Amino acid sequence: MDSSRISLRPFKLSDVDDFLKWASDDRVTRYLRWNSITSREEALAHLEKVAIPHPWRRSICLDDRSIGYISIFPESNDDRCRANFGYALAAEYWGQGIATIASKMAVSSVFQDLPYLVRLQALVEVENRSSQRVLEKTGFVKEGLLRKYGYCKGEIRDMFVYSFLSTDLVL
Ligand SMILES: CC(C)(COP(=O)(O)OP(=O)(O)OC[C@H]1O[C@@H](n2cnc3c(N)ncnc32)[C@H](O)[C@@H]1OP(=O)(O)O)[C@@H](O)C(=O)NCCC(=O)NCCS
Repeated sequence: MDSSRISLRPFKLSDVDDFLKWASDDRVTRYLRWNSITSREEALAHLEKVAIPHPWRRSICLDDRSIGYISIFPESNDDRCRANFGYALAAEYWGQGIATIASKMAVSSVFQDLPYLVRLQALVEVENRSSQRVLEKTGFVKEGLLRKYGYCKGEIRDMFVYSFLSTDLVL
C-alpha cells in the first residue's frame, strides 16, 4: 500500500455512507465495545453524537474516503495522562499494512495534539493476533496478560495490555 494514499482526519457527517459500509460489518466490530450499526440513521447519529465530539477520533482514509477509525480517549481529571487506544479497518483492506500506517501516524501526532498525555494503552483479546501485530509493529510494549479483564460481545475475556509512552520511539 502506498502510504501517501492513507490519511487521518476528523470525521464529517458526509462520511456517513462510507462509514456505514464498514461499521455495519460484524467482522469489523467483533472485538469492539460497540455493536455493528444497522441503518443510515444510526450511522448519522453515531457520527454526530460519538465520533465528531470525541476528544481524539480520526477517520482512517484511503484517498480521503473513510475506511476505518483510530480513537484515543484520555481518562479524566488526574488520570488524563493516560489514554486508551483503539482502531478498526474495513475488512476488504485487511492485510495490507494500512492499520499499522495509521497507528504510526496517530502515535506520531497525538502527543503534540494532547500535550498532557504520557501513556497510550491498548487492551487486546488474546486471539486477536492481527491487532497485536499492529501494536508491535508500531512500537508498543506488551506489558502482560490481564486475566478475565474485559467484557466484550457477551463474554468476559483475557486481554493483553500494551503501552506506548510519549518518550518511546515509533518503529
Ligand atoms: C486489527 C486490524 C485493524 C488490523 O488491520 P490491518 O490493516 O489488516 O493490519 P496490518 O496489515 O497493518 O497488520 C496485520 C498484521 O497481522 C498479521 N496477521 C493477520 N492475521 C493474523 C493471524 N490470524 N495470526 C497472526 N498474525 C496475523 C499480518 O500478517 C500482519 O502482520 P505482519 O505485517 O507481521 O505480517 C483489522 O484486522 C481490524 O479492523 N480488525 C477488527 C477490529 C479490531 O480487532 N480492532 C482492534 C481492537 S483491539
